Amino acid sequence: MNNAPAAHRLVIVGQGAIGSLLAAKAQQQHLDYGVIPRNKQPLAMHYQHLASGLSFDFTPTSVTQLSLQDIILLPLKAFQIDNALAHLTIPAEASIVLMHNGMGTIEATQTRFPSNPILAATTSYGVYKPHSNTLVETGQGKTAIGWVQHPNKTVQQCLQSFLETGLGPLYWHDNIQLALWQKLAVNAVINPLTAIHQIKNGGLQDPQFNNVIHEICQEVALVMQALNMPVTIEALKDNVREVIINTADNYSSMNRDIAAGRPSEIDFINGYIVQQANKLGIDVSHNQRLWQQVNQLAQQS
Ligand code: PAF
Repeated sequence: MNNAPAAHRLVIVGQGAIGSLLAAKAQQQHLDYGVIPRNKQPLAMHYQHLASGLSFDFTPTSVTQLSLQDIILLPLKAFQIDNALAHLTIPAEASIVLMHNGMGTIEATQTRFPSNPILAATTSYGVYKPHSNTLVETGQGKTAIGWVQHPNKTVQQCLQSFLETGLGPLYWHDNIQLALWQKLAVNAVINPLTAIHQIKNGGLQDPQFNNVIHEICQEVALVMQALNMPVTIEALKDNVREVIINTADNYSSMNRDIAAGRPSEIDFINGYIVQQANKLGIDVSHNQRLWQQVNQLAQQS
């Protein structure tokens, strides 16, 4: 780790649900931050925290040029990452934080930016945007983060303080792959089932879903074990159930994407599990079926 001065700016790419949540948290903490908006100017946002009743309005600053000390957070859809990175001029010292559902983007990012500090993070916070300018935080979650390459001490300190305060509890992982696979199991259950059955996350508490949840977790556990990750089916199921309960009143991101006719992240969730299982010769027919069903739904909408 090097000892660069600690004057980091947080740069958030996009204003999706998690991007807007990060901006709201940075705003609340009076941090040096800005947004690279999808369109010309950042949107003015109204933030509401459901549990406490806290709400405020803010308009993030627009970032037009990246600098050495920037920490660039990419809370985008997995399928948007490569294109977003291709269009940014990122200095070799700036840090990149991948933050999305699903897996499969780390390798391409490392190839594109071999010298940059890179991290991967995942959060289970419940948020939704009833309108493009309104963000509602509904459920307390937790956040996991870890280094992918070139760790940097002051970047870590900055992210530790920001994410622990805003999206805590925050867990640093020496092996972020394990945490990403654990979150992958959560998304492999909740996202396709809530999209196919058109229900909120809490609807998965109905006993009719017990078997399918078990089968999906069993398949993911088999693949993880074959990749030498210490995991049990029960641990994956417990984790999935916790997120279902904590975000019971939410529609999952895939439910919303399918309902709105937008592309979904299914190829990076159940599709990624199938690809890894195929390489290992493991049967994951439940994941395979969900992958196909959601892709069929996407074609119909
Ligand atoms: O994709 C989502 O919606 C979220 O990752 C999660 C945790 C499943 C909550 O809805």
